Amino acid sequence: MGFQPANNRPTARDELLARAFRHALEAAAEYEGATAPNPPVGCVLLDIDGNEIAVAAHRKAGELHAEAAAIALAHQAGVVERIHTLIVTLEPCNHTGRTPPCTEAIMKTPAREVWIGVKDHNSSVVGHGTEKLRAAGLTVRFWDELAHPDAPMLEAAAKRLIAPFAKVSRYGLPWLTIKQALTGLGSMIPPAGQKTFTSPSSLVLAHRLRKRADAIVTGSGTILADLPEFTVRHVTDFPGKRRELIILDRRGRVPSTYLDAAARRGFEVVIEQSLDAALQRLGTAGALEVLLEAGPTLTGAVLATGLWNEHYLIQQADAAGGDDRVIVRRQSPPIPPLS
Ligand SMILES: NC(=O)c1ccc[n+]([C@@H]2O[C@H](COP(=O)([O-])OP(=O)(O)OC[C@H]3O[C@@H](n4cnc5c(N)ncnc54)[C@H](OP(=O)(O)O)[C@@H]3O)[C@@H](O)[C@H]2O)c1
Repeated sequence: MGFQPANNRPTARDELLARAFRHALEAAAEYEGATAPNPPVGCVLLDIDGNEIAVAAHRKAGELHAEAAAIALAHQAGVVERIHTLIVTLEPCNHTGRTPPCTEAIMKTPAREVWIGVKDHNSSVVGHGTEKLRAAGLTVRFWDELAHPDAPMLEAAAKRLIAPFAKVSRYGLPWLTIKQALTGLGSMIPPAGQKTFTSPSSLVLAHRLRKRADAIVTGSGTILADLPEFTVRHVTDFPGKRRELIILDRRGRVPSTYLDAAARRGFEVVIEQSLDAALQRLGTAGALEVLLEAGPTLTGAVLATGLWNEHYLIQQADAAGGDDRVIVRRQSPPIPPLS
């Protein structure tokens, strides 16, 4: 842990660092769902007094990493010489991929200190970014070393942000989220004549989950009952983002008219026989996040497996106009241990 003042109150500098950690997380979260096969990453640059001089995120594979994007912003604003501290949600890379190593970009600035949310689990990166920066004389610290009451929560948020990337890097499988809505009577089936029964805020939540997904999985029963669109409508989608719509349909009951219409809505439609096979294929293709939006048959079957990671259970509000209750559960295995 970092230095804790006797009265246990964070210093002014620790407050500024915690605020910068939050801003780095927020910057990264804006692009959650846009970056596959890369992880979402955010970066904040501070001057020696703790003033934020640049905030940036990795927006898309092939574009600048968050650290390089923040440094580029500092160049544009003519403030590179003021860079003192770099806050980043994930350990800076030290290898040349589609873009040059971030360690080198950092070392070309006057930065003296780097605060990292989570170590990178990518096998070509682990440890190397930190070691390279330390060898160059920079102070490198991890967020859990910050003497601030928010530090554990901020570190946990950084770990959650990177969890899909960590899972796919370790196991070759994408992060699987299950969304399940229940009526006041505990049924998943909407009242006759309705496709949904949840509150407006739950609809926004459902569309946020779709937005961050690289693929949506459903069952033939849901298609036959509702002919759902599965598009992102209640929040603004990433421009040009193309998702897979995977339909588990072993008996071939879904009509081609539905498949053609889904393709016209921009989906890459795939009929699969098994969820395991679909997840293996998606992981190999670099997908990070998959959302299951199915009826009780498939949802129940998947909940009984170790394949899922997050379960959003939306319980309909008791009174009309009220807010639904949302319960989020996480299943630990097979999320890799994050050091
Ligand atoms: N409340 C909610 O959150 C929610 C969400 C979506 C849908 N719904 C409602 O759910 C209802 C439809 O329910 P449903 O249970 O028929 O739909 P479903 O769970 O989406 O689809 C069930 C079908 O999936 C196929 N399937 C493929 N692999 C499977 C596996 N490993 N395990 C289980 N099923 C597998 C089966 O058909 P094959 O054997 O032919 O492969 C099965 O009949 C609709 O009324 C819809 O409105 C509710």
